[in-house]
Amino acid sequence: MVKKMTENAARDADKEKLSRRKMALGRNWDAWPDYEAAEAGLHDYWYPVLWGRKVKKKPVAVRLCGKNLFVMRDQDGNIRALHDRCPHRGVKISLGKQWWPGTISCPYHGWTFDLKTGDVAAVITDGPDSRICGNAAVQTYPARERHGLIWIYMGLGKPHALEDQLPEELINPPKYALGGRIEDRSGNWRFYAENGFDEGHAKYLHRTSIWRIFKVMPTWNKIHIKKQGRWLYRVEDERYWEAEFPGVGKWTNKRWWKIMPKHKQGKFLGNTGGAKRNNPYIESRNFPGFASLSMPGVLRIVYPSFIHYEFYVPIDANHTKYVGLMFQFKGGLSKWLFYLWYLGGIRWMFHGNFSGQDHWMVAETNAPPERLYRPDVSLMEWRKLFSQPHPIRGDELDDDNPEQPVRVLSGGEKP
Ligand code: FES
Ligand SMILES: [Fe+2]
Repeated sequence: MVKKMTENAARDADKEKLSRRKMALGRNWDAWPDYEAAEAGLHDYWYPVLWGRKVKKKPVAVRLCGKNLFVMRDQDGNIRALHDRCPHRGVKISLGKQWWPGTISCPYHGWTFDLKTGDVAAVITDGPDSRICGNAAVQTYPARERHGLIWIYMGLGKPHALEDQLPEELINPPKYALGGRIEDRSGNWRFYAENGFDEGHAKYLHRTSIWRIFKVMPTWNKIHIKKQGRWLYRVEDERYWEAEFPGVGKWTNKRWWKIMPKHKQGKFLGNTGGAKRNNPYIESRNFPGFASLSMPGVLRIVYPSFIHYEFYVPIDANHTKYVGLMFQFKGGLSKWLFYLWYLGGIRWMFHGNFSGQDHWMVAETNAPPERLYRPDVSLMEWRKLFSQPHPIRGDELDDDNPEQPVRVLSGGEKP
């Protein structure tokens, strides 16, 4: 009897120990040091930051990769981007004015900078013979306008062409209509990229979104990740619409008002359902999977009649600029019908309500530590990219160090 009681007590103690261990299990990001270091963003990439139509001759302040910049147009309409800190006493130059074409004057003492070079061109309060002229400057950044957006190259060397980095199908697209939303959101940019490419969440988290309200979402699936060029693709191997979980119960998202996606629509459509006919330009691209991700945080989701992109632009370690774009590759009347469709509700439903669920979860994400599961193979493959050579500027890597990781920004600047 006593022996039995002792055995039971020992078994209970073991069980408790095991359950405590299970609860405590969780890994930090030791396995991905380059990923961890990229908290405030990656160097040497172009980032979309604003709609071009919002930038005129008045400076617009932009925070990118932990640095304060400003963007404005010169007298010829060229976009200029400069560091937003006056070297004199550190005031934001973007609070100043463009008194002379191609310049900006700091609001405090009137140091005046050449927008193209960043050099001090005049110092209003120190007279025409000021010694500061030609002896002080602010950093300039390459800036371009493409697809209606302002793109800034966040690096100090000579930039690669923006075209080297754009999703390939956007370099010379046929006629298209574009709808989009740019929004500053709380949460680290890497969590947004992970969330966008995360296999597991869409079918569960987004099942309640208005965008999916009439569509059945699968219960679970099996995938693998295919790397092609600069992109990682999620490729579905198996899909299960419902499942019986032993000892727990059945899960299904089927409801009488929900429509099952049609299966014959093509492999790249994933679980999105869709149109009767795929857009020929989209179909011609032969994407291996409907969701893909590339550096420096660009998600591409291929639908039958449009492509949706999300650019996760690092503002700093704790904030991300969400740039959601929807491209429909059609001209003429279809283009105007798209704008009607998009502005009449889809913008709110897709780039608002649906994507707002992602914002909600990313802002709540608190990792590491973390305990990853099978569908997180998508996250792991993404993280591995950070310790591989720069996918675009591979030619400029140090030859002695082929393992040289992507250069990362070390963090913010002094306030
Ligand atoms: S702080 Fe800018 S001119 Fe003095
Ligand atoms: Fe999502």
